Amino acid sequence: MTCGTHSEAVPQDVRPDVGAATDLLGAGADTAHDYLEVRGLRVSFDGFVAVDGVDLTVVQGDLRFLIGPNGAGKTTLVDAVTGLVPAGGSAQFGGTELLGRKVHRIVRAGVGRTFQTASVIEGLTVLQNLDIAAGSRRSALRRLRRRTGVDEAVELALETVGLAHVRDSLAGVLAHGQKQWLEIGMLLVQDARLLFLDEPVAGMSQGEREETGRLLRTIADHRTIVVVEHDMEFMRSVADSVTVLHQGRVLSEGSVADVQADPRVVEVYLGTPAHTKED
Ligand SMILES: Nc1ncnc2c1ncn2[C@@H]1O[C@H](COP(=O)(O)OP(=O)(O)OP(=O)(O)O)[C@@H](O)[C@H]1O
Ligand SMILES: [Mg+2]
Repeated sequence: MTCGTHSEAVPQDVRPDVGAATDLLGAGADTAHDYLEVRGLRVSFDGFVAVDGVDLTVVQGDLRFLIGPNGAGKTTLVDAVTGLVPAGGSAQFGGTELLGRKVHRIVRAGVGRTFQTASVIEGLTVLQNLDIAAGSRRSALRRLRRRTGVDEAVELALETVGLAHVRDSLAGVLAHGQKQWLEIGMLLVQDARLLFLDEPVAGMSQGEREETGRLLRTIADHRTIVVVEHDMEFMRSVADSVTVLHQGRVLSEGSVADVQADPRVVEVYLGTPAHTKED
């Protein structure tokens, strides 16, 4: 979904904090050699093939966008790699095969994702949402210790995603953009090293999009990121590389300039400028 944009800037004190991001992300495991390697990925629903033999390689530091018309198979690909739908083929991260594993084991392997619809727990505070996400990675001993205060990773995540000032607000009252940032923060405290973000800027104001772009660029220096998006302007300003899916297959892949100049891509989007497509 791509909603209308507003041009107002996000005030300085509620912006994601790139300095905190570097502290948080730089302190983790060595991620320089992380990469996602998908080979021959195939998903079918009652005989309908939604993902049809996709190969995809994404290395750490290469901020990859996954685009394609509605129904191309983008979300299904992410669902397959994160254990939500059964798939054939192979999907490895850091040498670990993800296919066939339970969702929680995929999370433990360092793979996290956001959903097209924000999935924060609205009746809990921002801090409680982050705390729960951190809990999935934290040892029982550390969990006991942190009752005396806020975990440093949670604190840094709050600053990183620009939500420190609303830490005690219920997630349900956050602005749309802030919910997406909270979800990204939850992936960071989970220590996800491979992040799939499904339409992160849908419905965001122009100012929120710009902040999100900066946040993703910073995270991408330390983590492997795949962004599913319909917003072509956002893609052009943020992506390092792009994979175009169409009818479950890779149609084109390369730099933003490469795929924009690819006649097959132009044909798929013909008549419907991609940035105005509706879900
Ligand atoms: N659980 C399911 N059962 C049956 N068909 C499904 C299921 N999930 C997805 N599909 C079908 O698989 C195809 C790919 O869907 P998918 O949601 O992956 O597309 P997408 O590229 O994410 O599209 P969008 O841009 O609209 O989000 C579509 O034809 C969809 O109807
Ligand atoms: Mg989708």
